[in-house]
Amino acid sequence: MSTDLLRGPDRLEAQVLGAIAEAHDEAALEAVRVAALGKKGSISALLSTLGKMSPDERRTRGAEINALKEKVSDALVQRRTELKEAALAARLATETLDVTLPVRASGTQLGRIHPISQVTEELTAIFADMGFSIAEGPDIESDDYNFTKLNFPVGHPARDMHDTFFLAPDASRERKLLRTHTSPVQVRTMLSQQPPIRVICPGRTYRVDSDQTHTPQFHQVEGLVIDRSAHLGHLKWILEEFCKAFFEVPSVKMRFRPSFFPFTEPSMEVDIQYRRERGEIRFGEGEDWMEILGCGMVHPNVLKNCGLDPEQYQGFAWGMGIDRIAMLKYGMPDLRQFFEADVRWLKHYGFRPLDIPTLAAGLSS
Ligand code: DAH
Repeated sequence: MSTDLLRGPDRLEAQVLGAIAEAHDEAALEAVRVAALGKKGSISALLSTLGKMSPDERRTRGAEINALKEKVSDALVQRRTELKEAALAARLATETLDVTLPVRASGTQLGRIHPISQVTEELTAIFADMGFSIAEGPDIESDDYNFTKLNFPVGHPARDMHDTFFLAPDASRERKLLRTHTSPVQVRTMLSQQPPIRVICPGRTYRVDSDQTHTPQFHQVEGLVIDRSAHLGHLKWILEEFCKAFFEVPSVKMRFRPSFFPFTEPSMEVDIQYRRERGEIRFGEGEDWMEILGCGMVHPNVLKNCGLDPEQYQGFAWGMGIDRIAMLKYGMPDLRQFFEADVRWLKHYGFRPLDIPTLAAGLSS
């Protein structure tokens, strides 16, 4: 043991200093430090033998072992500095910046607003300017609000006009549905607000239908005005002003045709005049008529069903397809593409996110 100990420090010195020199990163160097100077390290083990030595031996061996410890500590510090400098140099070498590269466009420059969102904002700006507020309701609706309160009696054939997605009956055996139109928001509004009422209700609607101009999920905007004297003249003015502002034309010609909806009496469908010019649709003039919405005076039964006295209150309502007027305004031929999430389509037909539509600054510019 004593011969070993005498030779030990030299061998150990060579071995530890060699390991320090070979450590290629800070983690490896730390492992060498722990193996030598840690609690159970080789040099710490040598130091612990001092206690058993004679005072003379301790004097010479102690000095030797402490000198070794110091040498190793210095080597560790030096190697650590070298490794740190090398790591920094390597990092700096990989993080060079080519200041001549073009700047990458930000999200607000690259991103696009979907035409449906854009058109919803546009029509909201127009109706808000006329004093309408926004009302909303859930996509999953009761049969009562979607049909019965709107004067579609149970079993009435008018219900078949809507190809409805029904949900499975719930615990109380009620069969909820995906609303087939935004008209149930009329019901919700009349049940929760006292007239005068002036609201528009944009939102998602659902029907079992799919072709070039129909998708199972689509969008409508409903309008509702209730007070003591609202009449068809007001409705006609509102719709005309809306069409001029929305299609951004100085005048429009409109045609009101008698029609049928269970919740209005009389009921009308509205066409607007247009002509095709080099494949594009121009509104406000021409020989052709395009249907754009349904409307009418709110049926007295609907007022009654919503707790309003038809002897005191009257009003009108309309419903319009948002996707349809978006297709017409921006010349998009196939409705299904609206829902395909194809970035190339969105890049072509979408709108810049910071160009917020306002009447003063222009809706679509
Ligand atoms: N809810 C009708 C539909 O989806 C559209 C409609 C027509 C709404 C006339 C109305 C209205 O408010 O008065 O086919």
